[in-house]
Amino acid sequence: MRVLGIETSCDETGVALYEPGRGIVAQALASQADIHAPFGGVVPELASRDHVAKLAPMVESVLAAAGRDLARLDGIAYTAGPGLVGALMVGGAFGGALALGLGIPAIPVHHMEGHLLASMLEAQPPRFPFLALLVSGGHTQLVSVAGVGRYRILGQTLDDAAGEAFDKVARLLELPYPGGPALAAAAASGNARAFPFPRPLIGRGLDFSFSGLKTAARLAIEAEGARAGELAEATRADLAASFEAAIVDTLAAKCERALAATGLERLVVAGGVGANSALRAALVALGERTGVRVHYPRPALCTDNGAMIAYAGACRLLGQPASPAAIVARPRWPLDELEPPRGS
Ligand code: KG4
Ligand code: ZN
Repeated sequence: MRVLGIETSCDETGVALYEPGRGIVAQALASQADIHAPFGGVVPELASRDHVAKLAPMVESVLAAAGRDLARLDGIAYTAGPGLVGALMVGGAFGGALALGLGIPAIPVHHMEGHLLASMLEAQPPRFPFLALLVSGGHTQLVSVAGVGRYRILGQTLDDAAGEAFDKVARLLELPYPGGPALAAAAASGNARAFPFPRPLIGRGLDFSFSGLKTAARLAIEAEGARAGELAEATRADLAASFEAAIVDTLAAKCERALAATGLERLVVAGGVGANSALRAALVALGERTGVRVHYPRPALCTDNGAMIAYAGACRLLGQPASPAAIVARPRWPLDELEPPRGS
């Protein structure tokens, strides 16, 4: 079985070829960071246009690197949502048309299911059931995962996603786009105790709220700016470290509570914020303290990529109609609407 995966939900074009038994045979990723950087955030129309320009040559180069040709594919998986509708339409139209031409199934994949299953591509994949912490630019969720398509959302953010909070505070700190990694880099030399930021909802339930923390960070940044005229490098690092610590403490505390409430013994980290090294260190420490096994994919499999879409598509290939009836593009798509693959 050979599945080509196509990711175009936001600002990365990802293409990968997955074969069970061999894993990811070849993959390619194109970031649009340079295109969006002057605007300080993703410009949807520019994102769509760049996906259009990049997809075909990337598919050709992935197949060439794998030594395979189109005729030997068994399915084409594409991200059908959630995401930017124009960007989704590009991947859906491209993948759907290619599948139609080849007479093979096109498999619409839920982007967050892709993230959630990404650690299955690592050498030591987690066994079901597990608790998943999904932390990306658009989502912050704790999910009880019994198997592929068997998801129960235990808690989620009431306002901003963790990645979104990173990006917004990075912008306030005048750090370059993309903000999350820039803020993490600035935090590395800062004092995480310099600013006592709130840990919203930390002692209560499994939902998250980051907008109050974001406001606290904004007020502190403004106060420091007003006091000193402009932010000194060391103060910026302290603000970044204190903000990062507040997010990490909150995410780790909620994971611990969800593990205790469910009795689950494995924790899987997924999504772009999962690439954050302070978060990874905190969750490893949590695992050591509680005996829970913590899995996180390598950073390149945390952020958006085609490999996770190819893998999730392969899990759902059986039972897909050979000719796609329509392009599926769902900008909003709750994860818990998914069902297990047909026949499983
Ligand atoms: O999963 P992802 O690549 O795309 C979405 O599905 O949203 O996640 C992107 C998010 C962005 O908000 C980005 O700033 C954040 O993940 N991110 C990070 C780091 N790397 C990416 N946040 C904190 N630390 C990082 N190292
Ligand atoms: Zn993502």
